[in-house]
Amino acid sequence: MLLSAALNDALNQQVGNEFGASLQYVAIAAYFDSDNLPVLARHFYTQATEERDHAMRFVKFIMDAGGRLEIPAIPAPRSDFSSAQEAVQLSLDWERTVTQQVNALVDRAIKDNDHISRNFLEWFVNEQLEEMASMETLLGMVRRAGDAGLLLVESYLAREGRSASVGVENENT
Ligand SMILES: [Fe+2]
Ligand SMILES: [Fe+2]
Repeated sequence: MLLSAALNDALNQQVGNEFGASLQYVAIAAYFDSDNLPVLARHFYTQATEERDHAMRFVKFIMDAGGRLEIPAIPAPRSDFSSAQEAVQLSLDWERTVTQQVNALVDRAIKDNDHISRNFLEWFVNEQLEEMASMETLLGMVRRAGDAGLLLVESYLAREGRSASVGVENENT
């Protein structure tokens, strides 16, 4: 097997962390959904799907590397929030924690002289920079808007989503 036992264990743990993030974002999306903020809800439902994809990337890598998959128990997500700001702050804290987890995985791969794993993990290193940056921007907007201004945040996200997809179309042409 390519993976050290320690890295295999840590990768299994990370599969759990990514699925955990997915559940947390579903819970946050549902909070916005029931607060009649459909764009914020959609934003977090999409994040939840992305986190599931992250988990599956780790699963595929463990399989490709001949490792053993053992998915840990996933803690229940938090479902109660007192404000939009609290929900987005929790998301940013979560992303910061995941960045530390990914860093620790890279450290492990380097200690193992395991450049295949290190190379695989690089995608997540870059992804975390993007995820922390966009969550920080969202938190800043929600904070500035306050409860009364959340509809402005919604219309920003709706516009942003459209221009992002235009960007993708342009790249492909
Ligand atoms: Fe993730
Ligand atoms: Fe994330």
